[in-house]
Amino acid sequence: MKTPPEQATGSAHGKIILMGEHAVVYGEPAIAFPFKATPVKIEIRQTDSLTHIASSYYQGVLSNAPRSLSNLSVLIETICSDLHQSSNHLFVTITSFIPAERGMGSSAAVATALVRALFSYFDQPLDRAKLLDYVDISEKIAHGNPSGIDARVTSSESPLFYKKGSAIELLSLNISGYLILADTGVKGQTLQSVADVADQVNALPEETMAIISQIGQLTQKAKEAILKNQRETLGVLMTQAHVSLRQLNVSNAVLDHLVDTALSHGALGAKLTGGGRGGCMIALTETEKAADTISNKLMEKGAVATWIHPLGADINE
Ligand code: PMV
Repeated sequence: MKTPPEQATGSAHGKIILMGEHAVVYGEPAIAFPFKATPVKIEIRQTDSLTHIASSYYQGVLSNAPRSLSNLSVLIETICSDLHQSSNHLFVTITSFIPAERGMGSSAAVATALVRALFSYFDQPLDRAKLLDYVDISEKIAHGNPSGIDARVTSSESPLFYKKGSAIELLSLNISGYLILADTGVKGQTLQSVADVADQVNALPEETMAIISQIGQLTQKAKEAILKNQRETLGVLMTQAHVSLRQLNVSNAVLDHLVDTALSHGALGAKLTGGGRGGCMIALTETEKAADTISNKLMEKGAVATWIHPLGADINE
């Protein structure tokens, strides 16, 4: 057994689902991209005492950590056991710029950074398939029935067109326009909303699967609009996807209000992003100026933070 180095780090980043959330759990495609403005870094070093976690949520001994961190404790135990290493005497510091439970992939990004940090600490090779297997273990605990998109995009450098069980397609978001991301400040409820959609599928299978397949078709059309640089079409498809997500009962009054605000101030399209019931919404604009104006309006109407992300072609303007 090698002696572990004094310390090692692992990193990852947040993500934004442009189209396809919820439907992706049922085998429909989704489009998501890495959101580098919100990085996560995890540092692991040796300690003489019991394994500790230091994060903005919780600081203390891992074995006393709250249930909301059980995905991370299971991950640490599983990896240490698989690598025949002790899970004692690790000091794990989590520094995350991703607001938690906002549909920005916080749990998957933290898990990705943790897997990377542990493998680096124990000086073991880590390929992508192994990384995703471990992040999927963590995500099952955090989300119940994850599609796997968060795990893939928080560790990816490129936007993805993802369909469960199919090869991932890298998708260039080289479309002119600006995306605003606005945080409602309300914790999203991905675990609950995914479970509620499953209940709706059981209770009303035909109607609910029709909505899910509609979201899939909108996502497929969005991919074509992106490839053809049809910004207006993409905007319309985003707003239609929001209507479908409302029919799945995963929106809420705050998200609807911010979507309406963006649309009434000239956004080309707007929708919730991620699990819903809080979390974040996104809106598409033609120009950076329009994105600034709408972003200010969203803050006036209750958003607690906004980010503006150029979608490619206008990046250097
Ligand atoms: O809320 P987030 O960032 O975890 O996104 C969840 C996306 C869903 O499609 C609702 C669930 C999933 O596993 O894909």
